[in-house]
Amino acid sequence: AFRSKPPPKDSCVNLKIQKESSKVVNMVDIEELGDKVSYCRCWRSKKFPICDGSHNKHNEETGDNVGPLVLKRKEP
Ligand code: FES
Repeated sequence: AFRSKPPPKDSCVNLKIQKESSKVVNMVDIEELGDKVSYCRCWRSKKFPICDGSHNKHNEETGDNVGPLVLKRKEP
């Protein structure tokens, strides 16, 4: 069936993170978040799921325009 084959590599967003898993899911306890944290959306971070700036290199190399999700606490 269509879904039984692994997709061709160039259609994968995720190239190397936890490829042994059938699905990569990250759980974060919102009570334990600091004042500001950036989560990777480019799947290139070496500290995934935290952004390490690797999106900049990816954007330069590919012409893409991806960046992190930044969670920030409201100023009191
Ligand atoms: Fe992936 Fe920054 S490293 S969004």
